[in-house]
Amino acid sequence: MATDSDALTPRPEHRFTFGLWTVGNPGRDPFGDPVRAPVDPVDSVHRLADLGAWGLSLHDDDLVPYGTPAAEHERIVARFDAALQERSMGIGMATTNLFGHPAFKDGAFTSNDRAVRRAAIGKAMKSIDLAARLRAENYIFWGGREGTEVGAAKDPRDALERYREAINILADYVVEQDYNLRFAIEPKPNEPRGDLWLPTVGHALHFITTLDRPDMCGVNPEVAHETMAGLAFHQGVGQALWAGKLFHIDLNAQRIGRYDQDFRFGAEDLKEAFMLVRLLERAGYDGPRHFDAHAYRTEDADGVWDFARGCMRTYLALAEKAKHFDALPEVQEALAAASVPELAEPSVPGGLAEAEALKAESTTLDALAQRGYFNERLDQLVVDVLMGLR
Ligand code: GCO
Ligand code: MN
Ligand code: MN
Repeated sequence: MATDSDALTPRPEHRFTFGLWTVGNPGRDPFGDPVRAPVDPVDSVHRLADLGAWGLSLHDDDLVPYGTPAAEHERIVARFDAALQERSMGIGMATTNLFGHPAFKDGAFTSNDRAVRRAAIGKAMKSIDLAARLRAENYIFWGGREGTEVGAAKDPRDALERYREAINILADYVVEQDYNLRFAIEPKPNEPRGDLWLPTVGHALHFITTLDRPDMCGVNPEVAHETMAGLAFHQGVGQALWAGKLFHIDLNAQRIGRYDQDFRFGAEDLKEAFMLVRLLERAGYDGPRHFDAHAYRTEDADGVWDFARGCMRTYLALAEKAKHFDALPEVQEALAAASVPELAEPSVPGGLAEAEALKAESTTLDALAQRGYFNERLDQLVVDVLMGLR
């Protein structure tokens, strides 16, 4: 496969975004202090624009530290907004930090303390005002502290009801303010709590159906989060697409069974990353392609930009590989041999009028069992393409 280097050059139309907290990650971990200096958010705007990204994302506190006086708040936001406009950079998503402050140690929307819950909703409202001011497309809810280590400490039904109440009132607020924002819930199974509510894409998709304004809310699946739960990420994303709910996506890399690693996109499990990119590209996903990851702790300030370049390069390379894969005649033959297109055909187009025929066909299992599905051949073609052998 000849790789046109132009195809690997990030451009705004690819809609790549990075969180302020990702390229600004100072490399602190539970065992050690920061290894990199803080990054000025305005510098991140310029660096990412130079690299060909479309935009950024942020938590309220990434831009304006909690407790900043009003006049200073305004100065910081105006300066950041001026940089965004100067470089034509968008905000793919904004969100609230409802996990960092010690008050949120028992949760935010689902804290057992009603006063904490009310303060959390108020903080989210102010953060939504900021998001609207910066023209953010999506507003994300990641329940970092929404969970527990102690099963007896919370009735899950009450916690989910409080979660629902919070999202409902915030959705009403967006509509009342006439903001052009939609919501997306980001599931995660654990970390920082022992267990989190809404642990997977499936849990979140069902939760959304219980909201007062379900149409306003989608999901923001993250590679690392489904992988931590041992699930196939592209299947979760597929279900979100099928439900019309893939509003946003957090791309990174993760090994099953480890802590929340947040590695550079494609740094682990290239095959799963390939299946993901192929799915997104074939589905025509046009939301932000957001990297929620950070540079290894070994890196200095320059290494952060190597990290950012790597995320985008790998995405674009996998998109090229996916196109190449689907254009190969041997792949088309293998897909046909595996009856992949047949899965798109309705099983019973005639509905119940076919009941007798279906019952008669139930006797054909012995004959049907004879065939093979050529999955070995098909999967090896994926591996061959990824290794550049075809
Ligand atoms: C994590 C999460 C966060 C969220 C972010 C925006 O595991 O820490 O992925 O990075 O994505 O708070 O919601
Ligand atoms: Mn994460
Ligand atoms: Mn995330």
